[in-house]
Amino acid sequence: MNNFNYYSPTEFVFGKGRAAEAGYFVKKYGGSKVLIHYGGGSAVRSGLIDTVKKSLDDAGVQFCELGGVKPNPRDTLVYRGIDMCRAEKVDFILAVGGGSVIDSSKAIAIGVPYDGNFWDMYCGKPIEKALPVATVLTIAAAGSEGSGDSVITKEDGMLKRAAGSDLLRPRFSIMDPSLTETLPSYQTACGATDIMAHVFERYFTNTTEVEITDRLCEAVLLTMVKETPRVIADPNNYDARANIMWAGTVAHKNLCGVGREQDWNSHEIEHELSGLYDVAHGAGLAVIMPAWMEYVYRHNVLRFCQMATRVFGCQMNFEDPEATALEGIHRFRKFLRSIGMPINFAELGAREEDIPTLVSKFEIGDGKTGGFMQLDAHDVTEIYKLAANASL
Ligand code: NZQ
Ligand code: ZN
Repeated sequence: MNNFNYYSPTEFVFGKGRAAEAGYFVKKYGGSKVLIHYGGGSAVRSGLIDTVKKSLDDAGVQFCELGGVKPNPRDTLVYRGIDMCRAEKVDFILAVGGGSVIDSSKAIAIGVPYDGNFWDMYCGKPIEKALPVATVLTIAAAGSEGSGDSVITKEDGMLKRAAGSDLLRPRFSIMDPSLTETLPSYQTACGATDIMAHVFERYFTNTTEVEITDRLCEAVLLTMVKETPRVIADPNNYDARANIMWAGTVAHKNLCGVGREQDWNSHEIEHELSGLYDVAHGAGLAVIMPAWMEYVYRHNVLRFCQMATRVFGCQMNFEDPEATALEGIHRFRKFLRSIGMPINFAELGAREEDIPTLVSKFEIGDGKTGGFMQLDAHDVTEIYKLAANASL
């Protein structure tokens, strides 16, 4: 196991009806003028925004609001949010929504105290200051409610890039699983796929002797394999929703990743897809992640056998471990199809002839990406090709 620091300061406020406590928690964490930031309307339609406003009123906290965050959130709305916060003297941002709303809020939080263009931080400049951010989560997926990351798409060229800092970790995150019951089943499945991908990015490692994090990863994956079909079949299954919601946070607050080298190549490769075609990040991962697995499994066949046997219930074939590894990947793809996810480019709405464009947008530092297996532009091209033509 490698040395590590683990810092996870967010207060998680979990359970039914907890959104009514938003005002109390904003006050507890020092907010006096809040920007309520939300998406395309689901939180308004469900009455959640009204609940949050009432709670802020009851706590004597002033607020202004900015809706309209799109999935794959855009820099253009971030600039509007920064201007609004400066004009209204906002000192606290409350994201009410999913990963896109939370990430847009984090970008505004970076931009308000910064003299230059907030996009600098999405091009690698370190983040030195940010307004405090908190969340009321409405979809179990990105894990942004516990992470220090933010992913924004620059509308000019549809470039999707990430920034990260502990300063972006939410002060608190209110997590009421019943809020996710209004999600369309496709969005539920996209979220489930993203959660599993966050674990796989950490599970496939070159670090040895990390039994504790291996087992935590497997616990989250097994939970997702069991609970996702239950919520797809019955969207109002509160207990299954609750397990998935907490799994989403555990998957990405790095509890499953400490003490080991991580990968993240599938995410990097996927971000170009959701950037170019404006598709859901989870759906893109459903297409990319198994293709990446097929391309890299020979790097450590036994680790893929471990996934196959412990997570997908495969029988170990000691004569032919590669067959077990491949069976595990096949079962993962079958699982994704069973929850309604696309498994190839055509089903996602992507085009094989765009692969050179996707590869050219992908930033491959010094010619190789890091992680479990080092990849160069040729490898990335091959992974896109496997993803383009995948079938069951
Ligand atoms: O905009 P509204 O109307 O709210 O609709 C949203 C949106 O269309 C809808 N939705 C959310 N909660 C709902 C609901 N509809 C009905 N009922 C509810 N309770 O769902 C759609 C998707 O929402 P979005 O916020 O985009 O989903 P998600 O949480 O998957 O976020 C995806 C974004 O997060 C980034 C992704 O790249 C993508 O841009 N990621 C952020 C990470 C991070 N910050 O740590 C890590 C992830 O790997 C990921 O890259
Ligand atoms: Zn993700």
